[in-house]
Amino acid sequence: MAKHVLGIIIGSTRPGRAGKPIADWFTSIASKHASFEAKGLDLKEINLPFLDEAEHPRFKKYAHEHTKKWSALVESCDAFVIVTPEYNHGYPAPLKNALDFVYREWNHKTCGFVSYGGEAGGTRAVQQLKQVTQVLQMASPAEAVVVPMFPKHLKDGAFVSDEHLEKAAHAMLDALAKLTGSQWPLMCSRRLRSIARASASRRTLPTRRTHRSGTSISRRSSGRPRRRWESVRGSRSSPTSLAGASPTPTKSSSSFLESVSSCGRRKDRSPWRPRTPGNPRARAARG
Ligand SMILES: Cc1cc2nc3c(=O)[nH]c(=O)nc-3n(C[C@H](O)[C@H](O)[C@H](O)COP(=O)(O)O)c2cc1C
Repeated sequence: MAKHVLGIIIGSTRPGRAGKPIADWFTSIASKHASFEAKGLDLKEINLPFLDEAEHPRFKKYAHEHTKKWSALVESCDAFVIVTPEYNHGYPAPLKNALDFVYREWNHKTCGFVSYGGEAGGTRAVQQLKQVTQVLQMASPAEAVVVPMFPKHLKDGAFVSDEHLEKAAHAMLDALAKLTGSQWPLMCSRRLRSIARASASRRTLPTRRTHRSGTSISRRSSGRPRRRWESVRGSRSSPTSLAGASPTPTKSSSSFLESVSSCGRRKDRSPWRPRTPGNPRARAARG
């Protein structure tokens, strides 16, 4: 079976960074994994400037050679592992810059994390990274490598792991391999797109009325059938006040009206008028 190309990104670009020995240790494990062919993506070597492209990266109209090179590098990978420190409970600026430089090249790929720091082991940086990688339509396994109090693992500039960290690295790589070979990243991005489409269409509706339960009753564009009470209220509303609502009762809504008006509990009041404080008939009925 062909191996997945795994890009291992070193998020720190500082002189004397701890990220390099940690990434070297992780790369030595990843390169022995049956599913992956490890490829180093050292942001210090890649040396991107601050984002200097005029077009949004999703159009892939890159003006600069450094962007085209970075785009080709990201494109060549099927999965990524980001090795990141934590700076002020976030992740390093060069890492954010590198993520922002391209867009489609990240899409539908997977991303695991190796983080290091003090007691929290860089986990707060990873939480922030997850938000951003999700928008880039990447999927991540829950398994991660966390190195708290990392200086105790550094001896003469090399990273000395322990049994616990080795286990965590293997578990994360196994989970990443499963995710990379599955349809899940694609499904995640489709789900994201459908949520975005649904919320965009809701925003464009001219009027939005709310049932007393708090639910919007003008969500016709979502494609789901109306609920019974939506049909009732929609049919009684003026055509301009409810987007997409029929001004005359439909067959199903009139039969529902009949069944509701024949119900003893609600006989005394019109079924399509909700009992609201602003409804004079309801106020009168309440006395
Ligand atoms: C600007 C800055 C902010 C830092 N903030 C944190 C932090 O919020 N949490 C933490 O655990 N360590 C923090 N540290 C300490 C880093 O974990 C430590 O310096 C580590 O070596 C950084 O990784 P690097 O050497 O690969 O750049 C910070 C370090 C720097 C330089």
